[in-house]
Amino acid sequence: MDQLYREAILDHYKHPRRKGHLHEPHIHYHDTNPFCGDEVTIELKVENGVVIDAAFDGRGCAISQASASMMMEEIIGMPVEELKQWGKEDVLDLLGIEIGPVRLKCALLPLKALKAGLWGLDEWPE
Ligand code: FES
Repeated sequence: MDQLYREAILDHYKHPRRKGHLHEPHIHYHDTNPFCGDEVTIELKVENGVVIDAAFDGRGCAISQASASMMMEEIIGMPVEELKQWGKEDVLDLLGIEIGPVRLKCALLPLKALKAGLWGLDEWPE
């Protein structure tokens, strides 16, 4: 079963979904992993408290970039308040494999950027 998830991760890394930039995003947050310099930028459009569009950009290891790609697909249509509650387990569920402590920072880099961006938005655009 792990093999399937590994293949999915590699596929997202090689063919990232929703990679690029949005036109006038409501949320734009850039973060880096200080240990390796890898980076992720998250952009979201929000309407009535719901994510209506999402994109990421970045460069780095397979886990960090696949995690961002999978996350962008998953969060469209989700209420921001629900997303704010997202944690480590939600990301690990998406990735579907056991992640050791060394790679955990890679997996969680996009979540860090996402949450920082979400908490920085004071008001939901109508
Ligand atoms: Fe840099 Fe994974 S090695 S985020």
